[in-house]
Amino acid sequence: MSVYIDPAVAGHLRGFEMPERLGFGTVMAPVMFRAVCQDGCWSGGELVPYAPLALDPAAKVLHYAQSCFEGMKAYRTLGGGVSLFRPERNAARMAHSAERLCMPAVPESLFMEGVRTITAYCANLVPASSGESLYLRPFLIGTQPDLAVSASTSYEFYVIASPSAAYHAGHMRLWVEREDSRAAVGGTGDAKVGGNYAASLLSISRLKARGYDQSLWLNPGNRHTVDELSGMNFFAVMEGELHTPRLNGSILEGITRDSLIQLADALGYTVHERDIDIDDLLALVKSGTCSEAFACGTAAIVSPVSLLGDGEQQYELAQVPGPVAEHLRQSLLDIQEGRAEDRFGWMEAVEPVTT
Ligand code: COI
Repeated sequence: MSVYIDPAVAGHLRGFEMPERLGFGTVMAPVMFRAVCQDGCWSGGELVPYAPLALDPAAKVLHYAQSCFEGMKAYRTLGGGVSLFRPERNAARMAHSAERLCMPAVPESLFMEGVRTITAYCANLVPASSGESLYLRPFLIGTQPDLAVSASTSYEFYVIASPSAAYHAGHMRLWVEREDSRAAVGGTGDAKVGGNYAASLLSISRLKARGYDQSLWLNPGNRHTVDELSGMNFFAVMEGELHTPRLNGSILEGITRDSLIQLADALGYTVHERDIDIDDLLALVKSGTCSEAFACGTAAIVSPVSLLGDGEQQYELAQVPGPVAEHLRQSLLDIQEGRAEDRFGWMEAVEPVTT
């Protein structure tokens, strides 16, 4: 199916001014991809000017949160090309999230058409500095105007794009969240749905007031093993080996997490995917056996952790950034930005379209 390109797209792209300094997700590309689904039938995709959505106030998404999303990036590669990183993994994860919320999966071909089209037309908006990229945000919402608690019969799929820097610059101070849970066991923790992020906001606002950056969520079932951060996975380095929480149903299966596990293995590190008891971890940080920790995610890349706060106690990591985190961060960026051989076949080049 070919994508309809709105004639106004060219003018919008020409009129776009790249900001001098990039934040994360604050400046939007002037175009977006959209497709609609009615009673299970998908329309063709279209590239249209970026604009507010017209939603009926009774749309299901606004009341019952039928909404899921993805985070992915287009990178400027050595030599000036543009490439997507493992886009088919995002398509598959979005299908999983949609299924969990009783929404129709966006067909993989439509998802890929969306991310390739917006990347091709916005190729000039992909920043060239290392660590910066064109962040893509595909999302799917239930739009049927009807207050019954039932799955929507109509959906809209969008891909918007934002030239961005990494989500978190510098090191992070984590707060061990012992009060709230992010996602219930048997709930939506392993799906990328807005509700999980909404449930994390109160914790984040509490910890920011105490000088921390992110919550370190514990497993909502047992309340003593580490799950993840909101929007990032967690790794600890102990005596040169990597430890990360195993996928247990309440952790989002991060594509960066999976890539780092493969990369670390290829670089000769031992990686343990296991339950990590929070009290053991804090004791190991205190003794220095756990010398470094880091968070990872599409938006965050690899961000070193400097401190774990647990109530009145603070546990400082010995190495910030640690050599293992630095090695993995650089090795991943070298593949994504085309400086190293794509030994895993992760990159997909996109041919730019000039308007
Ligand atoms: C991502 O890393 O792409 C995310 O979706 C995390 C966050 C910015 C919400």
